[in-house]
Amino acid sequence: MSGSMPAHETVRVGLGARAYDILIGSGLLATAAARIKPLARRNRTIVVTDEIVARHHLTALMDSFAAEEMEALPVILPPGEGQKSFAGLERLSDALLALEVERGDIITAFGGGVIGDLTGLAAGLLKRGVDFVQIPTTLLAQVDSSVGGKTAINARAGKNLVGLFHQPRLVIADTALLKTLPPREMRAGYAEIVKYGLLGDKAFFEWCEKKAASLLACDAAALKNAVTHSCRMKAAIVAEDEREQGRRALLNLGHTFGHALEAETGYSDRLLHGESVATGLVLAFALAAELQLASHDDARRVEAHIAACALPARIAGIAGLSASPDKLIAHMRHDKKAKDGKLVFIVPHGIGDARIHDDVPLDAVARVLSRSIALPA
Ligand code: NAD
Ligand code: GLY
Repeated sequence: MSGSMPAHETVRVGLGARAYDILIGSGLLATAAARIKPLARRNRTIVVTDEIVARHHLTALMDSFAAEEMEALPVILPPGEGQKSFAGLERLSDALLALEVERGDIITAFGGGVIGDLTGLAAGLLKRGVDFVQIPTTLLAQVDSSVGGKTAINARAGKNLVGLFHQPRLVIADTALLKTLPPREMRAGYAEIVKYGLLGDKAFFEWCEKKAASLLACDAAALKNAVTHSCRMKAAIVAEDEREQGRRALLNLGHTFGHALEAETGYSDRLLHGESVATGLVLAFALAAELQLASHDDARRVEAHIAACALPARIAGIAGLSASPDKLIAHMRHDKKAKDGKLVFIVPHGIGDARIHDDVPLDAVARVLSRSIALPA
């Protein structure tokens, strides 16, 4: 390895023979090639990215490979959720095959959750499985989508319905890359960070309440702490339940509500995934208060924090969304998290104590949705 390595945190995802490290710190991109090189059988990688990430950061990554005298072949896709489609998978697969990808190769996914999910799936399918590395470039990808091996594209019937579990060999989360991320994308990613505190660590939620403003302003120390803490929590859950047979479902706190809102807004820029999670977290606490499993004080506190971060705390705050509770519940029934025909909700029994429920009365869900629709934004 050439040059000195910047200080970083390491989180291990303990999956036996498939265990891997998540490296977190500012400036890690410069060392990416030195870390990827030992994982490749041939001295080359194919870098999959999108046009926006390429414009901001691809030269720096290519320089890192050049410094290690490792061949790096870029595949640059258009940005956006539309790439997570059968057509997008076919285009990427053809591009990778045209570059003669081999099983001993390593593919580098360099981008947000869209690039990570699509590249991970293509890597898992091509030649019956090629290794890949994640270099996540959005906050959401650094704290959630690049870790845990879920890959997918969307189908006509719904989001993320065609996919597989394919763990990366390494994740390199360079928090300095977030400096170019639009503020709205930062906020959306932040919702997933708050989620970890709310589902299992009250002290971390309290830290979030204090540090959200510096974190959203890209303060390096705050970002390193938040990304490391989030990854540590996710890694522990994934190591215990890789295939979501139980505890991993806790990571879906806020997501049953969120996916219904995303479906209603057509999975479009009208509501980003992380924004839907933010509203979903507030609704999950409102539901818990309605069921007398969490206090109204906790529900108000969560709502206040989400609103303070300029995230949509109420359904009424989502531009152009005028769905009825029945319509939103109908979307929930199509959610892939439904089990034996029952809706599964992650219900917090207070801040930091989420639990899995498949027995939530739908009239309580409808009351919570009605209130969130009727209250002012
Ligand atoms: P994204 O990948 O679409 O990125 C958002 C936007 O930011 C894009 O326009 C992208 O080009 C741009 N961008 C990325 N990095 C940038 C940077 N450093 N500077 C400037 N612009 C940058 O969106 P996302 O929020 O990262 O990911 C959302 C996707 O992740 C969804 O498809 C969702 O289903 C998926 N997801 C997957 C998992 C999982 O476990 N696999 C978990 C959560 C979400
Ligand atoms: N994003 C939820 C999970 O990885 O399980």
